[in-house]
Amino acid sequence: MRTIRTVAALRATRRDGETVALVPTMGYLHDGHLALIRAARQQADQVVVSLFVNPRQFNDPSDLDNYPRDEQRDAALASDAGADFLFAPTPDEVYPPGFATQVRVGGPLTEALEGAHRGAEHFHGVTTVVTKLLNMVAPDVALFGQKDAQQALVIRRLVTDLDMPVRIEVVPTVREPDGLALSSRNVRLGDDDRRRALALSRALRAAEGTVAAGTTDAAQVLTAARAAMTPFDVEPEYLALVDPEDLSPVGTVDQETLLAVAALVGPVRLIDNTILVPAGSPGTNGRH
Ligand code: PAF
Repeated sequence: MRTIRTVAALRATRRDGETVALVPTMGYLHDGHLALIRAARQQADQVVVSLFVNPRQFNDPSDLDNYPRDEQRDAALASDAGADFLFAPTPDEVYPPGFATQVRVGGPLTEALEGAHRGAEHFHGVTTVVTKLLNMVAPDVALFGQKDAQQALVIRRLVTDLDMPVRIEVVPTVREPDGLALSSRNVRLGDDDRRRALALSRALRAAEGTVAAGTTDAAQVLTAARAAMTPFDVEPEYLALVDPEDLSPVGTVDQETLLAVAALVGPVRLIDNTILVPAGSPGTNGRH
């Protein structure tokens, strides 16, 4: 596997007729990223993993400062998982002096949930850098994780609205054996906070159980989910039942519904989600 820093060098690797898959990352790779890379390996001749900690999507400067970084470790992991190229551009390669463009998806997709709490600017930073990465790499397919369900919806909207010639694949969340969703930020959890972080996945499992038992009333489902967080002394920033396509709030879980949660656990802000499938409903369409 080769590490490449410039768009020109990356383009020079392109071979006629070969397909390319892109796995965009901010590094500090974990098994969730490796699942994306392995899925990419199945889908294209060349696999490019991008590694760029995008300053424009951090609303909290201390989160950016503390974001874990280890390029050597990432290169070894990406190579083992089957990547051909690690594209690790400098900030100036992505945002050269004079850079003045922002790519925004408007409306509820960026204003709800994460947008309401972190600000829609977070997503504008994501869509700007993802547009850059898609233009720089020009992949046939780009893969993203379901853990960032809202981000995946925003990116699908972006590529549809701008007629970008790329397929977007969303890969299921990878979890620790005890249920914690993998995240690069998990390494910043101390022992006690690591235990408390289970509050999020336990809330999701409680909601799934409630819906599987036949409850459709959204308030009751949310009450069960919230109660599962209480023993961990974790207060959700939001815990919301929404339409999985447009993020509008739902009052009844009578079709597939996205349950999304965010919470601050010690110094680390965590998110997680699941698609609730009401009893007797046909299934999940592979979305989670
Ligand atoms: O999901 C992430 O790691 C980032 O938001 C992404 C898509 C790599 C853009 O910086």
